[in-house]
Amino acid sequence: AHLVRSRVPIGDWPPEWFEVADNIQRRDVLLDHRLSPGEALAAALDRGAAGLLAEIERSSLRGRGGAGFGSDIKWRSCRDAWGDAHYVICNADEGEPGTFKDRVLLNSYFDLVVDGMCIAGLAIGSSKGFIYLRGEYRYLLDRLQARLAQRREQGLLGRNIMGRGFSFDIDIHLGAGAYICGEESALIESLEGKPGKPRIRPPFPVTNGYRGQPTTVNNVETLALAALIAVRGGEWFRTIGTPASTGTKLLSVSGDVARPGIYEFPFGVTVADVLQAAGARDTLAVTSAGAAGHCLDEHEFGRRIAFEDVATGGSIMVFDRSRDMLEVARNFAHFFAHESCGFCTPCRVGTAVVARLIDKLAAGRGSPYDLEEMAKMHVLMQGASHCGLGNTATIAVNDMLSRFPSVFESRLQSSEYEPAFDLDAALS
Ligand code: NAI
Ligand code: SF4
Repeated sequence: AHLVRSRVPIGDWPPEWFEVADNIQRRDVLLDHRLSPGEALAAALDRGAAGLLAEIERSSLRGRGGAGFGSDIKWRSCRDAWGDAHYVICNADEGEPGTFKDRVLLNSYFDLVVDGMCIAGLAIGSSKGFIYLRGEYRYLLDRLQARLAQRREQGLLGRNIMGRGFSFDIDIHLGAGAYICGEESALIESLEGKPGKPRIRPPFPVTNGYRGQPTTVNNVETLALAALIAVRGGEWFRTIGTPASTGTKLLSVSGDVARPGIYEFPFGVTVADVLQAAGARDTLAVTSAGAAGHCLDEHEFGRRIAFEDVATGGSIMVFDRSRDMLEVARNFAHFFAHESCGFCTPCRVGTAVVARLIDKLAAGRGSPYDLEEMAKMHVLMQGASHCGLGNTATIAVNDMLSRFPSVFESRLQSSEYEPAFDLDAALS
């Protein structure tokens, strides 16, 4: 239940569905740190805002939500932007199917995340932060609120933290189950009390974010890593991972594996190594970023998890040879058709059309024209959609079409293909 979205309103789900163990299978520097609450923040205060930013730059830390934007550039741009107030937002709306790594950080490493938010506040000159918590993680809310209150009593949050003249406080805002609110500008709209529709970017939140003010939106994992860097320094961080993708990455591994769960690997690890660690056997395909990323076949398992090769927000879904990839594609297509916010036509219509075409194929009534149409939809939606949801909605399905063509072609209607009219000729 924690992996997928459902059409059942969140409040109707029994809480025990969400009470899932952290299930950490492999720890590295982040999940194995020995810092006490506030230690990272104290180190950041010792360095000062400029020194801290220099360390973040030296570390080459890149955003862990999936896009990998340079954290130092984001924080510097935000700090330098003019505004009445600056804000820090922790994007804890992890909604990608098969992604559950931020849940673990919130559940068991919350102090490191809060330290990371305070550090971001120090870097950009902010005294206010928000955690936008995925609606399905409502069961964590009381625990997190209680810990924030405790930190205020301990002088680790709020006014004049540790008596060092730095003030920063955090509110938690609960999402309502919409996948699109993980997109940063839709998240900000939602935080402002409006429907979660993505804004036009640029301008980016670093200049025009929450209430039009400079805002940095960072993934939970990015903030936790920034806290580690504040203590151990950028040089240390650069020694882990690859030159273009420094540090480690948390992976949520699910599907046909003997040991599903959370794995922390240095960037540069191969897909094959991850599969071996998780006990995958007879693997047919791996989706590298949940439903929104690429789908790899066995010829690509030697590729590396890194921004310069297989980029991922952390969701590795594994499918063995018993799986029908058409059913997987169908599941993904319906997910996006349901989660499209409906704001722009390419995505609103495109996701629905792709879902219906795959339904038609699954029912044995498809034609080669339908396969062509799906490929065209992919190109159209990637180029014309208003936000990342529409841009990425058909990537996995399109990869499945190109890597496993026989799966789709074997389901075509047996009668000879005679299109009603030739669309290309009509358009030319
Ligand atoms: P993006 O590349 O447009 O932006 C990434 C970040 O960099 C944003 O915070 C943006 O504000 C910032 N940025 C970009 N250009 C900037 C500039 N010139 N100045 C200042 N800041 C700038 O990517 P986007 O659309 O925000 O995110 C897409 C990614 O999210 C995809 O890689 C996808 O895999 C991932 N994703 C992650 C999910 C999850 O659950 N973690 C769910 C769905 C998608
Ligand atoms: Fe909404 Fe999809 Fe358009 Fe994004 S691409 S604005 S989710 S309709």
